[in-house]
Amino acid sequence: MRLTNAFSLLALAGSALADTVTYDWTIDWVTASPDGFARPVIGINGQWPCPLVQVNQGDTLIVNVQNNLGNETTGIHWHGFTQKGTPEMDGAVSASQCAIAPGSSFTYQFTADYSGTYWYHSHVMGQYPDGLRGPLIVNDPADPYADLIEEDVILTISDWYHSQTIPLVQAMLSPNNTAFFIPPVPDSMILNEGGSNLIPFAKGKTYRIRLINFSALSAAFVTFGSQVMQIVAQDGRYITPADAYTIRIDAAQRYDVILTCSESDVNEPYLVALDANPDYTNPNATPRPITFPYNSTGYLVVDPDGAFTETLEVEGSFTPIDDSLFSSATETSASLGEADQTIQIDFNFCVDANGTPQACFNGRPYVDQQVPALYTAATVGDDNTNPIVYGNVNPYILESGQTIDIIVNNYNFALHPFHLHGHHFQVLERPGTGAGPYPGFTTQSSECPAFRDTVTVYANSYAVLRFQADNPGVWLFHCHIEWHVDMGMSASMIEAPEQLRGKQFPQDHIDACKAVGQPYQGNAAGNTEDPLNTTGFVYLNPQPYLGALFDPNSVTTPQAKRARDERKMKRSAKKFPMFTS
Ligand code: C2O
Ligand code: CU
Repeated sequence: MRLTNAFSLLALAGSALADTVTYDWTIDWVTASPDGFARPVIGINGQWPCPLVQVNQGDTLIVNVQNNLGNETTGIHWHGFTQKGTPEMDGAVSASQCAIAPGSSFTYQFTADYSGTYWYHSHVMGQYPDGLRGPLIVNDPADPYADLIEEDVILTISDWYHSQTIPLVQAMLSPNNTAFFIPPVPDSMILNEGGSNLIPFAKGKTYRIRLINFSALSAAFVTFGSQVMQIVAQDGRYITPADAYTIRIDAAQRYDVILTCSESDVNEPYLVALDANPDYTNPNATPRPITFPYNSTGYLVVDPDGAFTETLEVEGSFTPIDDSLFSSATETSASLGEADQTIQIDFNFCVDANGTPQACFNGRPYVDQQVPALYTAATVGDDNTNPIVYGNVNPYILESGQTIDIIVNNYNFALHPFHLHGHHFQVLERPGTGAGPYPGFTTQSSECPAFRDTVTVYANSYAVLRFQADNPGVWLFHCHIEWHVDMGMSASMIEAPEQLRGKQFPQDHIDACKAVGQPYQGNAAGNTEDPLNTTGFVYLNPQPYLGALFDPNSVTTPQAKRARDERKMKRSAKKFPMFTS
């Protein structure tokens, strides 16, 4: 029996001395068959799966990215990193940088200020489901579990598709799509990017499993049968340990769980079941019965030559532990009090003037503009506190030092994982399916709610998320179902814009804009004279969807072309505003 793990971790504890860790990456198309079906995937340095990145807390990470894709742009986001002081390194294409053109290079440099389990992934259009993602682990020099655990193990979970994302999304976003709003359905599930689901264990020893969900769409249920798992961290933040038999990990979430191997010689099974259902708690949410066609029984292997006979089956539904009740292990605020600023985001699907299905916040989808919002914030002077200058990116201005509550009302019959860049929020309240929109008051879930960066919001229900505006920058808030991001399911938190005025950007970041033919100063359309002049703003997502496609023979971007087309269209038909829910 061969035990393979695509992501083998180095020594357990981090060193106390801060280092600079440099990676040189070329981003290439390669062929891989993680589930037995060969297809082109996006790899790094000619390899796929993409490499594990592992640093110590306090280290500076430098990643030199060279785009060798030829036909697509790219950009890499460091999911869960605060990027405090370096908002230009967040990798969110269209919010904090221009896309990196084929043939261009771009350097990310930032600090790993918190320990824990993270991941990196492409953040340009729907690119990461094509494979450009990997685990990112920050070791804690003062790891409270170091003495207890024998070893760290990474287990990544992902839905997987046999088609590339561009044709999948083009089909979804076609005005002729009769299955309106129905996202691409996965073809399979892969663990550790197609690596082994056997985890080497030693009798009586204790392990920390770092679960990461890389999915484009699906959550997953994870259970170790009768073995209790102790959940000690979520999304890179310690929680007061919670015991569970089953957890549900949504797209982009991470859980660190501690497991102690029994003293028996039996290889113990564990089950991972992909949850691609609209709402696992509600059989009426779907015309089909709730199913879990993609599931896998793996083993904690104490005896590689022994039997692998015990199995765990999917039986009916799952009842996972309620993560909204978790408490922070590091903060102790007894009462959180009132917020200074409350942002209400009502989510529902909608249709744009092209007849394209879209995902709307307060009636509007996010539409890529020509100038990244962070560059606009840096270059329009006093006007940067006026949301108009950012264009149709669902901008919200956050005042520095304020306590912010985001209330998400989900008017859809499915569950959605909401993610905030640049911050970890406390989940003050997150009721189950059918609670309706926010009633106007909060019944705080726990004394000191735990922090995380991605939270599941249940169907026809809501969540109240709190954070401190202590990180000047432009931070996306979006559903982490990548298919929904492609439908415009994002907002932009423009945080402490006064402190962003005059901000300087590295030359290679400016050059990236030049290479894709986009302006890098002024308002959303690059108007520098009058930032309130909205000429050239983009109102509609491109139809057909082009994803990250880029024609190297032309510096005409889809955004620039779209803006031109729209100016023509606006003249002929006065159809704005155009969004309906
Ligand atoms: Cu995983 Cu916008 O992020
Ligand atoms: Cu969604």
